Amino acid sequence: MRFLITAGPTREPIDPVRYLSNRSSGKMGYAIAEAAIEAGHEVVLISGPVQLPRPRAVAVVAVSTSDQMFDAVQQQARNCDLLVMCAAVADYKPVAVFTKKLKKRDAKLSLELIPTRDILSSLPKRRKYFVVGFAAETENIEANAQKKLLKKNCDVIVANDARVGMESDENEVEIFFKNGETKKISRASKKIVARELVKIFENCFEKSLTKKTR
Ligand code: CTP
Repeated sequence: MRFLITAGPTREPIDPVRYLSNRSSGKMGYAIAEAAIEAGHEVVLISGPVQLPRPRAVAVVAVSTSDQMFDAVQQQARNCDLLVMCAAVADYKPVAVFTKKLKKRDAKLSLELIPTRDILSSLPKRRKYFVVGFAAETENIEANAQKKLLKKNCDVIVANDARVGMESDENEVEIFFKNGETKKISRASKKIVARELVKIFENCFEKSLTKKTR
């Protein structure tokens, strides 16, 4: 199978030296890329800025902003069998980027933000590849994940508690399928969780193929 995986945060520039971002380390996405390679798949990894070594045998497309990640996914998605949107894409970006460094003043400063484009929601409804979204939550994990599954038109959503998974070497996830099924992977290293996830994705993909050939 050809995996397309996004990982890490995005950075939304404010001025030449500052940006808005989040605490994503990229570890979960990189672990999935490594587990997919181990299982004999091809992997393209679209990565935001992270402090992680480039996984062996993986083609890496390095991006920084949500717009760059959006374009990279649009370009690469048509060549994949399975898209795994593990990246923590910023939800907002500054309306305008200052071309010169903002100087410090005594007065208050407000930044005007606009929503970034949602990459998952922009994918075509009819498509040949399978789409896995992630949901980072801090409360009502199940209800929020189910909402995202529908709203973002994913085939599967992997939900985690952001307080457990973010910047950590471990994770604990619950997987929600379109047919209402759910699965849990209890707390373990991201490496182990990634291996389990890859097995689940292989299964889902095979099932979707059998459905299409029927
Ligand atoms: N995502 C995306 N494009 C964005 C923001 C998020 O494709 N601009 C994807 C993420 O990669 C993830 C899924 O949407 O697979 C859910 O991301 P999450 O941050 O949990 O949800 P949000 O859509 O940002 O909603 P909220 O912040 O309200 O929970």
